[in-house]
Amino acid sequence: MCGIVGLVGKKEVKVKDIVNGLQKLEYRGYDSAGIAFSQNNHVELIKTTGKIANLREELNNEMEKEIKIGIAHTRWATHGGVTELNAHPHTDCTGKIALVHNGIIENFQELRKELIEKGHNFKSETDTEVIAHLVEEYYEGDLFKAVLKTIKRLDGAYAIGVIHIDEKKIVSVRKGSPLVVAYNEDYALLASDITPIIKYTKDVYFMNDNEMAVLEPGEIEFYNINGEKIEKKSVHIDWDEQAAEKGGYDHFMLKEINEQPEALKSAITGRIKNGEPIISEIDNLKEFIKNELKKIFIVACGTSYHAGLTFKYFMNRYSKINVDIEVASEFRYMNPHVDKNTLVLAISQSGETIDTLEGIRIAKEKGAKVITISNVYGSTIPRESHGAIYMNTGPEIGVAATKTYTAQIGILYALGAKIIELTEGINEEIKEILKGIEKMPEIYKEVLKLNEKIKELAREYANYQHMMYIGRGFGYPTALEGALKLKEISYIHAAGYQAGELKHGPIALLDEQFPVFAIIPRDSLYEKMKSNLMESRARNANIIAITTEKNEEIKQLTNEYIMIPEAHEALYPLVMAPVIQLFSYNVAVLRKLDPDKPRNLAKSVTVE
Ligand code: F6R
Repeated sequence: MCGIVGLVGKKEVKVKDIVNGLQKLEYRGYDSAGIAFSQNNHVELIKTTGKIANLREELNNEMEKEIKIGIAHTRWATHGGVTELNAHPHTDCTGKIALVHNGIIENFQELRKELIEKGHNFKSETDTEVIAHLVEEYYEGDLFKAVLKTIKRLDGAYAIGVIHIDEKKIVSVRKGSPLVVAYNEDYALLASDITPIIKYTKDVYFMNDNEMAVLEPGEIEFYNINGEKIEKKSVHIDWDEQAAEKGGYDHFMLKEINEQPEALKSAITGRIKNGEPIISEIDNLKEFIKNELKKIFIVACGTSYHAGLTFKYFMNRYSKINVDIEVASEFRYMNPHVDKNTLVLAISQSGETIDTLEGIRIAKEKGAKVITISNVYGSTIPRESHGAIYMNTGPEIGVAATKTYTAQIGILYALGAKIIELTEGINEEIKEILKGIEKMPEIYKEVLKLNEKIKELAREYANYQHMMYIGRGFGYPTALEGALKLKEISYIHAAGYQAGELKHGPIALLDEQFPVFAIIPRDSLYEKMKSNLMESRARNANIIAITTEKNEEIKQLTNEYIMIPEAHEALYPLVMAPVIQLFSYNVAVLRKLDPDKPRNLAKSVTVE
């Protein structure tokens, strides 16, 4: 998704400071980049398609240039193709005003028509450019007042940063798209998230909808959209810059897969102790859970949905509470059956996914209570929820979710156990599962050693066009997640199915060109899975299986297999996650693709 950065300094700012800040937002996904800075009484504008490296190349000697103020942007195209003209920043007719924007202006067509009639000259196809011309229209020597008037005309979502050549300030506003601002003695900065900011200060301000910030060197003033001053409290962030570096691995994704022992440990610290669930974040909802809760509805997208589905299997087995789940893009348009007795669980590593956000807004309107599990402190979804549980895994830079997925499952099990404790009473088996999660960081160290074997498998299968993942029970969400990981980073067509569904259609696809990846631990559904493997073999499909140690018979049933440590069957989604992640990672690398930045995808999906 688009990323914005702005910097204004008491001391001179270098062009490269702003470009370096922009680079920190690369992980959000983008297709073009641009920068605007003040230069000899005009706004210098440089924009390129493709990677930020192209922008650096284009800037060349200008990178060292000292400037006073600059804004920059990574664009993920929505309105208008991937072209230099459509890249941000956008300027007005005079070239004195420049602006970056993340979001979508829904009424841009009528505004554009109106502005063209007034004589404005448009250069791009974007929705964003109308904002620059509106600011021009309203500018009478005061940028803040012009932006104030402009936003009254805008429908849609935006985080914007605007500069005017005659004023040494950045005016910013947030409505519906993420925006963080901060300052220290010498600078004031804005960005889509904290990653470009932590180099300068760890005390940041998360902007809420309909709030404005005026950034001047060494200070920020906050306003509501009526132009009245407001007070905001800063939040201290503990992440250091190092936490966002690759740490010696070839890719962030590989680093993040290997971080899972520590990431999971950190996610469950203070939340599970000796098999007891803690989760103090829901203390304010205890009475509701005990006395009013009748239903849990999980809302999430992609990998987070798969973590949610795993939780559904867990709750279905250990609780009488009715648990429903829907992907957020369906939930928000389906008249979901939630009410004041429903607990909606929103799962979103980024905390910004627009469908999930709109989903919880609808749920809240219907009276439901909302708890969010997210990895990004201060992001919008947890802030709009009644309770927020942060994963504490550190930033996840690779676009494909890995460590946040396993952290989600760990936290969800702890949360589920807490809800069961409050409602029905927790039994020893659940406590054993939680103890198993506490031991998982050690088990992960063993599982991660399987990478050499997984690499061999990846070599065998990297050139296929298709792959079918199958599983049953707790293995089914893992099959879905395996297929998603493979397709999103290796571009191999992959689909996940409940193994029992094979004979209802998908089996027609199988032949020697269509391998099957079977999730087949020795659990209560093992014999059923075995039959499905035999059915697949009978169609000449090659079979890879993940199974549990000492399962000698698997050798007869499959072409290749990987053995993982034995665990309680509810824990296999956790034990197996690094295996499916590493398989996809290795296949992507063998296919010479960049697993950190899969095409067409973004880390934070802030548009519909
Ligand atoms: C897949 C992946 C996506 C996200 C999905 C939801 O690896 O990362 O499928 O899981 O876009 O994102 P969040 O969790 O940020 O709401």
